[in-house]
Amino acid sequence: MVISVCIGTACHLEGSYNVIAAFQQMIEKYSLHDSVKIKAAFCMGHCTHQGVCVKIDSGEVQSVTGTTAKEFFEEHVVAALKPQN
Ligand code: FES
Repeated sequence: MVISVCIGTACHLEGSYNVIAAFQQMIEKYSLHDSVKIKAAFCMGHCTHQGVCVKIDSGEVQSVTGTTAKEFFEEHVVAALKPQN
């Protein structure tokens, strides 16, 4: 799974690096180094000014902030990687 985090100007101002740092802490916490990669991406054309644009694999662009990053990770990454049974 690849998580792309936008580091374009608008998103950068919303705290791209806080989001990346939060994701990295979560990867550490759940030992997901082998299954999750974080990639910096350029403007995704979805500058919302309400958060940082984040995309999981080729999914929808979503808005995440430094405060919601950990919750987002648990909901969209940890949950998706959990075995279904
Ligand atoms: S700067 Fe992030 S989507 Fe445009």
